[in-house]
Amino acid sequence: MAENNKPIGVFDSGIGGLSVLKQFIRFLPYENYIYLGDTARVPYGNRSDETVMRYATECTDFLLKQEVKLIVVACNTVSSVALDTVRKRANIPVIGMINPAAGAAIRASVNKKIGVIGTRATISSNAYEIALTELCQSNEIKVYSKACPLFVPLVEEGMVYHNAARLLADEYLEELKLHEIDTLVLGCTHYPLLSPLLTELLPGVSLIDSGEHAAVNAVRLLAEDKKLVKERDEYIIKPEIKFFVTDVSPTFYDLAQRFLGFPVDSPKLVTLE
Ligand code: DGL
Repeated sequence: MAENNKPIGVFDSGIGGLSVLKQFIRFLPYENYIYLGDTARVPYGNRSDETVMRYATECTDFLLKQEVKLIVVACNTVSSVALDTVRKRANIPVIGMINPAAGAAIRASVNKKIGVIGTRATISSNAYEIALTELCQSNEIKVYSKACPLFVPLVEEGMVYHNAARLLADEYLEELKLHEIDTLVLGCTHYPLLSPLLTELLPGVSLIDSGEHAAVNAVRLLAEDKKLVKERDEYIIKPEIKFFVTDVSPTFYDLAQRFLGFPVDSPKLVTLE
């Protein structure tokens, strides 16, 4: 197949990465996609780095077999602890979530006090702090990070407007508020679904959606490499998406629709090795 017409491969620990795929479809609607969700082993966010690296290798090998032209590591946890592992394995471009979001946060922040929220693994890796410090020209930058492990199950239970979400968010964000951050990186696939609540609790703070900025980076990268798909019928924009998962739970379709914004076709069940 001509390089341009190969699909973009996106993988995540589960269904959350569909929030990233949603952004890719927004910016690259003519592309075709292969989405792999390791739903049998989600969550990755509380696991050791070694395990996340092993899982990431298996997901990468699966996408390489599908002959994708670009790999998008939609999972912030994998992007934080195993991006090098994926890059070493793949002989094609790889886009992670950290650098695009860090760059956007620096551009958005005026007082250079930036908050980062993510899973335990993402926060303890310090990946965002390292990227923000490296990308920011000034030494004045201050990064305040907070692991918010209970946000993932809360979003998956559809409780984003529930009082429990507000209580939890108040608790998690208290310290970041005290530090007067003006920008908050949503360093997890699930957090964009909490944006209305976070905007309400942090008025005036810019929220950075890592999937959105990764998609913008992908547009630039594919255009520079001359690998954008050749446009098909201009008037019919319907990306072809093939879904692969390692488990289909009873809530799969409902959850997937919430993350992606439209109903998904039947996924194919696969085993990773
Ligand atoms: N996809 C993960 C992330 O963005 C959240 C879910 C998990 O812990 O696996 O970090």
